Amino acid sequence: MKRTKIIDALRRSDYGSEVCVKGWVRSHRGSKSVHFIALNDGSTIKTVQVVADVERFDPEVMKQITTGACISAVGTLVESQGGGQTVEIQATAIEVLGTCDADYPMQKKGQTFEYMRQHAHMRLRTNTFGAVMRIRHNMAMAIHTYFHEHGFFYFHTPLITASDCEGAGQMFQVTTKNLYDLRKDEQGHIDYSDDFFGKPTSLTVSGQLEGELGATALGAIYTFGPTFRAENSNTPRHLAEFWMVEPEAAFVDLPALMDLEEDFIKYCVRWALDNCRDDLEFLNKMIDKTLIARLESVIEQDFVRLDYTEGIRILQQAIRDGHKFEFPCEWGDDLASEHERYLVEEYFRKPVIMTHYPKAIKAFYMKIDDECPVLDGKTMAQTVQGTDVLFPQIGEIIGGSVREENYDKLMGEIKERDIPMKDMWWYLDTRRFGTCPHGGFGLGFERLILFVTGMQNIRDVIPFPRTPKSAEF
Ligand code: 4AD
Ligand code: MG
Repeated sequence: MKRTKIIDALRRSDYGSEVCVKGWVRSHRGSKSVHFIALNDGSTIKTVQVVADVERFDPEVMKQITTGACISAVGTLVESQGGGQTVEIQATAIEVLGTCDADYPMQKKGQTFEYMRQHAHMRLRTNTFGAVMRIRHNMAMAIHTYFHEHGFFYFHTPLITASDCEGAGQMFQVTTKNLYDLRKDEQGHIDYSDDFFGKPTSLTVSGQLEGELGATALGAIYTFGPTFRAENSNTPRHLAEFWMVEPEAAFVDLPALMDLEEDFIKYCVRWALDNCRDDLEFLNKMIDKTLIARLESVIEQDFVRLDYTEGIRILQQAIRDGHKFEFPCEWGDDLASEHERYLVEEYFRKPVIMTHYPKAIKAFYMKIDDECPVLDGKTMAQTVQGTDVLFPQIGEIIGGSVREENYDKLMGEIKERDIPMKDMWWYLDTRRFGTCPHGGFGLGFERLILFVTGMQNIRDVIPFPRTPKSAEF
């Protein structure tokens, strides 16, 4: 008999019809005469109740129906007696497709997230991870739909690269060389001429540089793929392998870029509210009671647009008024997450798009501002047209900029920062052959999922997290 997904079975009201459902047992309780099996197949957070009259079934089979076992149940769709659900299934036949050993790690309720990370291969079967993964899928659909509807082409940039986009030196090397037999020249340099690509290569930290080639030909593109960073930050916001969405568009200036950032994020959050209601309600109940209210507030409010220098002014005033921060915040410093959170969660109480950062703390490709800012009567150093979107609970969710399109200015930055030129010639060619104003941004996909699910740790919004000293599963 054809299988019905539980999400579809629960929507039906043709009581008396015969259905077949398949899934994993969440719980099995019973009395002398009747057993109740809560079955989940991943199609929804909800379980369907399978009711089995004891006299109908072999006790040996019933014993095998333990939490975690996989079964197929055929029965009659009946109106539910208990509260909460509309339908249940009065079983006529049950087949055990897979028994579950007694040491099934997801058996108990209320396990810690740390425990579940150690069993990440099985945690997907829990309500929380099911909800997070369905929302993750929905956010990917929202992203593709948004850009498709707005005329951005999905553009595939390479994962193996010879250039360091962010210039932060946090790349994982890719090589087929025998690491036990590395020959070096007199200066101690490794000879890569016989390596697979004939030169040193790494996993990419961002698809932006190639994305700019796409945008300056197709007008507007977006990438959506995995990126890799060997930064040794063991924080609840960093992964060594994470997914990034990077739109890049020709003929945009800073205000247009900020409009795109705000409109795009709001679209994704609205998509979650419209399409992931059951999962969000579950997470709102179990993980974070303010989740749905926070999502609704983000789409209702205009994001604050704040100059970095103005942000420093606000933070320094807060310090003068007695607010204590762990880290200093002088003009020129990169903001620590406590500073970002103060601005977003206490001062403005809404998302902030911060712009015009000091050049020295941003990447080489950002467009340099014409004028230097003034703070307390003093003229500060050069700034760039970078935009970071700062979110409540998350901190930086987007990093982007208008790009420096002037060849000489860009070359100046490359030289000033000692960026190796030999692997960048193709990028510079965009500034030689019909250069144009353009810009884009990168959204950390897992940070978006953190925000939308209310989960606290980035390791819990990707199926199999990669972090320092951890690459199991
Ligand atoms: O600010 P980032 O480093 O910007 C770029 O890579 C640009 N090339 C993007 C562009 O303009 N096309 O990274 C972008 C976003 C961050 O705002 C953050 O959300 C996320 O990527 N991110 C990380 N997410 C998880 N783990 C990490 N280690 C991350 N590093 C950055
Ligand atoms: Mg950044």
